[in-house]
Amino acid sequence: MLTVLGIETSCDETAAAVVRGADGQGTPPVILSNVIRSQIDEHTEFGGVVPEIAARAHIAVLDRIVAEAMAEAGVSFDDIDAVAATAGPGLIGGVIVGLMTAKAIAMAAGKPLLAINHLEGHALTARLTDDLAFPYLLLLVSGGHTQFLLVKGVGDYERLGSTIDDAIGEAFDKTAKLLGLPYPGGPAVERMARAGDPKRFALPRPLLDRPGLDMSFAGLKTALRNAAEKAQPVDEQTARDLCAGFQRAVSDVLAHRTRTALSLFAERFPDAEKVIVVAGGVAANSEIRAALDDACRTAGARFVAPPHRLCTDNAAMIAWAGIERLEIAARAGEILDDQSVAPR
Ligand code: KG4
Ligand code: ZN
Repeated sequence: MLTVLGIETSCDETAAAVVRGADGQGTPPVILSNVIRSQIDEHTEFGGVVPEIAARAHIAVLDRIVAEAMAEAGVSFDDIDAVAATAGPGLIGGVIVGLMTAKAIAMAAGKPLLAINHLEGHALTARLTDDLAFPYLLLLVSGGHTQFLLVKGVGDYERLGSTIDDAIGEAFDKTAKLLGLPYPGGPAVERMARAGDPKRFALPRPLLDRPGLDMSFAGLKTALRNAAEKAQPVDEQTARDLCAGFQRAVSDVLAHRTRTALSLFAERFPDAEKVIVVAGGVAANSEIRAALDDACRTAGARFVAPPHRLCTDNAAMIAWAGIERLEIAARAGEILDDQSVAPR
């Protein structure tokens, strides 16, 4: 059983977690601790993440967050097999803080350091929470990313399509800013949309007339701005209707692209179970989840949505990606050992 300390600091969450891998005898992997400190309060007044402030805030708290994760897991540095940290992509100031802290711990404790790609963390999370075999589809929808990935194995990913401009979370955040709603925009827009009429404003579904899996959200944002300007003054109900129209357009685009992704998956892997996993902060949105769920049901596919705390940025996903990588290395080591003793 491998036990790994994970560290995540690539955006505006300072996170540390300890995860223990499966024992190979039926006991599934377990998250021993998963500590997350959000920097939302530091960034709210600027309406978005300020990289310099983010890096400084990570420096201020990361040592305590790591200590908390270790204490909650009830392990010491001697008990862990490796330290895994996000090495990119992300805001470089934050990445440096996390990676250097991980290097220092690894060096002092005499443990290996695993540099993890943040997107790989998101891509593999569902294997920590669900019994999921490769291959599967991943829809990553966050503040920085919007893409369909084919997850064929650890380290074996294929991007099938992505946004050609704004990420969906970014589009939610910009919509909120335009309407004077607080940051982060996603939850605020969703709250407003609940009491809005999604049909009052005819907003576009960009790129849906084109084949493939690419998406675009910049045009939607511009259409929303134009609609808001025409509707001046934007009273409370108008703002709600705009939010509802925007959210419905995004849900429609995602559902449509998900159906295409699933049929592509079925063509490529006719014998595999049709599965799509959703990850990223936007996956918290109820209307989007329902639209994806519905698209999966029609296509006869399984829809896997890990718990919200594991969909957004966290360190358990980084520790878990480290475990997946270590397990592969261990298996490769076994093969090499066998070969080295086998007579030729
Ligand atoms: O994955 P995440 O926590 O951080 C990264 O971007 O890596 O995602 C944050 C994004 C923000 O843009 C936020 O507005 C969006 O996820 N978000 C939502 C909701 N909750 C968070 N978007 C739509 N509906 C929500 N309920
Ligand atoms: Zn992320």
